[in-house]
Amino acid sequence: MAGQVEAVGKGITRFKVGDEVFGSGIGSFAESGCFLEDKIVLKPASLTFEQAAAVPVAGLTALQALRDHGRIQAGHEVLIHGASGGVGTFAVQIAKALGARVTGVCSERNLEMVQSIGADHVINYTKEDFWRSGKRYDLIVDNAAFHSISKPLRALKPTGIYVLVGGSSSTASILQSLIINPLISKIKGRKVVSFMANMNWTDLALLKELLEAGKIIPVIDRKYSLSDAPQAIRYVEEGHARGKVVLTM
Ligand SMILES: NC(=O)c1ccc[n+]([C@@H]2O[C@H](COP(=O)([O-])OP(=O)(O)OC[C@H]3O[C@@H](n4cnc5c(N)ncnc54)[C@H](OP(=O)(O)O)[C@@H]3O)[C@@H](O)[C@H]2O)c1
Repeated sequence: MAGQVEAVGKGITRFKVGDEVFGSGIGSFAESGCFLEDKIVLKPASLTFEQAAAVPVAGLTALQALRDHGRIQAGHEVLIHGASGGVGTFAVQIAKALGARVTGVCSERNLEMVQSIGADHVINYTKEDFWRSGKRYDLIVDNAAFHSISKPLRALKPTGIYVLVGGSSSTASILQSLIINPLISKIKGRKVVSFMANMNWTDLALLKELLEAGKIIPVIDRKYSLSDAPQAIRYVEEGHARGKVVLTM
């Protein structure tokens, strides 16, 4: 969410009434809400409220996937699978900001957009069997894991890391994330990680810096009014949003 502070609780020092902020919390689909001090930061003046509201969960997930779980380094070859969605559009830009060479995978209609946000190379998954191309990556961030895990493992360098962000939410895939992936890591010697993003002030503040420096720019697909939230959710659930979907107040 993003908005303007109307009141602060006792002992709050980071914010004052009138501050423009963005962050995350329960009850964000509303005209007003109550948010924890360490889950929001000041909004960059250059961003609209809609742009800022698009950042927190997707931006933080992309950052933590690349930096904490993927151990990204400058010069790494990084593949972002699902590069055109909410998490993917941030992942492409953050990986570039951290000095990696980025390949983005998406469908044909999004190839140009993914290139425009900085991907060095783009692949249309409907046309190319890229997992079998022979190219090896230091890091694969997977936002669209609708395939068997053997495919990305084949495309990893021996020291590579596969970070599973999301995809199928079936019970089988949840079990795979929790039990089978750690086993595969051990057996195949390739690191396989799945994680839940951790909303925290330090990372939000880092995203704010990247936004202010123009290193990341939220990609917004559609805007819906609050009363059209059900349509917005239905659209997001189709799994083909181009960047983020925002509710406007
Ligand atoms: N681990 C966490 O903490 C965390 C946090 C946030 C989100 N997630 C999860 O991560 C996943 C991605 O989230 P998101 O917000 O980025 O989703 P999203 O905005 O819906 O983006 C989905 C992406 O997947 C691509 N895609 C869809 N079907 C595909 C297919 N069959 N093969 C290859 N690519 C395909 C889409 O590309 P095209 O439209 O071009 O097909 C798009 O780039 C979701 O499952 C979400 O629940 C996890």
